[in-house]
Amino acid sequence: MPIITNIEDLKRIYKRRTPKMFYDYAESGSWTEQTFRENTSDFEKIRLRQRIAVDMSGRTTATQMIGQDVSMPVALAPVGLTGMQCADGEIKAARAAEKFGVPFTLSTMSICSIEDVAENTTAPFWFQVYTLRDDDFMRNLVDRAKAAKCSALVITVDLQILGQRHKDLKNGLSAPPKLTVKSIANMMTKAHWGLGMLGTKRRFFGNVVGHAKGVSDPSSLASWTAEAFDPTLDWKKIAKIKKMWGGKVILKGILDADDARMALEVGADAIIVSNHGGRQLDGAISSIRALPSILEAVGDKIEVHLDSGIRSGQDVLKACALGAKGTYIGRAFVYGLGAMGEAGVTKALEVIHKELDTSMALCGHRDLKDVGRDVLLVPEDFEGRWV
Ligand code: GLV
Repeated sequence: MPIITNIEDLKRIYKRRTPKMFYDYAESGSWTEQTFRENTSDFEKIRLRQRIAVDMSGRTTATQMIGQDVSMPVALAPVGLTGMQCADGEIKAARAAEKFGVPFTLSTMSICSIEDVAENTTAPFWFQVYTLRDDDFMRNLVDRAKAAKCSALVITVDLQILGQRHKDLKNGLSAPPKLTVKSIANMMTKAHWGLGMLGTKRRFFGNVVGHAKGVSDPSSLASWTAEAFDPTLDWKKIAKIKKMWGGKVILKGILDADDARMALEVGADAIIVSNHGGRQLDGAISSIRALPSILEAVGDKIEVHLDSGIRSGQDVLKACALGAKGTYIGRAFVYGLGAMGEAGVTKALEVIHKELDTSMALCGHRDLKDVGRDVLLVPEDFEGRWV
């Protein structure tokens, strides 16, 4: 058993064990990947303020996200094709999240279905939806999430059309993978992954196949998004989905203060400052850079969360110190999952928790809820002066 001390360790093992097509899917941003890179490098520009001679005993990172108790403000983000990173991946990740006391968000583009995850977990999870052209399918998804007792609906608002990720096109990304000489040759070197996949029936988009009509190739993320996603999405439609759901709603993909104000108007319970992990608009600013202006606009009226770029507990601490009430990890848990299944997701959460807890203490705090802007050293030009 290798000694895992950080998320990068999990990523190295994940890369070795997972077919290239799925590693590339997780590890890509759109086009030049500038935004993907800056999501992480911008975190490094913010420094932490070391304090000494402060009692560090009895620490806690426990808090709440949308009124739910969490052991730390780190939810698992919705990640498409998670069940291709490791057999039954969504179930394994949801179980790890449940045991750790953090929320799990199931993607519409998951391999395990809503029902699969509900049957194999006990804690309510969150369900993520895109806005789809087919009203019946949209309603059906929402009803299935209600029947599964999901405790929040996460509506993704930044993906009516797909940002181009070069590697996915070159690899012919699909679930299950299409059998070509190249893909077979690569999969033959991933014995552990292959055995897992042979041992499960969950190899298709579980929420889609058998439920959605008029999809020409249900195994292809690209053709499914092009055919099924609603390019006419507007705030009225978001309000309609919110009403259809009737429970807590989180809007994912806000990067601009004006949009954050609109989210407030529509009555969302929380927003996620996100650029979709740098997978949509390449050239957009990093999430951490967008966070302060969004907090200034709506931070006292709505819960503001952040995703995109979190790879460590220090990143979580920085986001929370700026004012985020919650954060999400996507790639960081996928690395763990692909490396070691459920135990790997648990390891990713443990790593991040330890980093968060220790860094908080070294900044002079014992309770994450008391941590504020004063623990940070933020460069004056961090947000940038854009004209
Ligand atoms: C789906 O949301 C993706 O980013 O691939």
